[in-house]
Amino acid sequence: MPLIQLREIIDGPAPVPAFNVIQVEHAEAIAAAAEETGASVVLQISENAVRYHGSLRPIGVAALSVAAVARTPIAVHLDHATSEELVREAVRLGFGSVMFDASALPHEENVARTASVVRECHEAGVAVEAELGEIGGKDGVHAPGVRTDPQDAAAYVAATGVDLLAVAVGSSHAMLTRDAELDFELISLLYKAVPVPLVLHGSSGVADESLAAAVRAGMRKINIATQLNKHFTASVRTVLDDHPSLVDPRRYLGAGREAMSAEVARLIRVLEG
Ligand code: G3H
Ligand code: ZN
Repeated sequence: MPLIQLREIIDGPAPVPAFNVIQVEHAEAIAAAAEETGASVVLQISENAVRYHGSLRPIGVAALSVAAVARTPIAVHLDHATSEELVREAVRLGFGSVMFDASALPHEENVARTASVVRECHEAGVAVEAELGEIGGKDGVHAPGVRTDPQDAAAYVAATGVDLLAVAVGSSHAMLTRDAELDFELISLLYKAVPVPLVLHGSSGVADESLAAAVRAGMRKINIATQLNKHFTASVRTVLDDHPSLVDPRRYLGAGREAMSAEVARLIRVLEG
């Protein structure tokens, strides 16, 4: 039951946890946790991760390969792509879904470019996640005070044809504390107004009970990255501190992978409620 497409699980009964992959150890950690829990998950690679590696293909093919040999269904998704060319490359490589992020652009341009990406991706059988909003700054539409209006969201989905919608409901990217305050009433209103599955970004800053409540209120795909890296890095740091003469990367990367996998399994169980 290996590589699948996001659209095969997004309408199912369970929430869809989506974990960001930076290096192959991340993909292995996430797949191991998915196998342990029996959950279907998403491995997602962001444009920032692609920039780190210099290109999509090496880490993209690695993630696709990890999914292909997994004993549980795993989808591979491109996250926060601002470039149409990167979207095309993901489609060529066999990704089943992409997030095209034009949220920093003026609204009309966001709609036009997203609708065009949707047409192209749908011809290839690939699903598209996107996002509206034209607020700038580091956190853009996921700054804590920003909110998605339900009617604007519904109109955006109708105008673009997107398959999933990322919404701003109180979370913020890359938080190291887990105290974001989500607007659950807004999530319920969005769930009623928007005909496609809703995506929560910046989920690392959301406490366990709020993650579960967000799912109950209507969020479907839950994106988590920073929380995994906190566990990975803490473990690597401990091993290196404890063994100053250690040089074999497998010793500390392996420990990081194990710590991360345990946190992924725990988060999957939290989301499943
Ligand atoms: O798209 C990825 C996410 O929104 C992850 O955000 O690092 O705050 O969990 P996070
Ligand atoms: Zn995000």
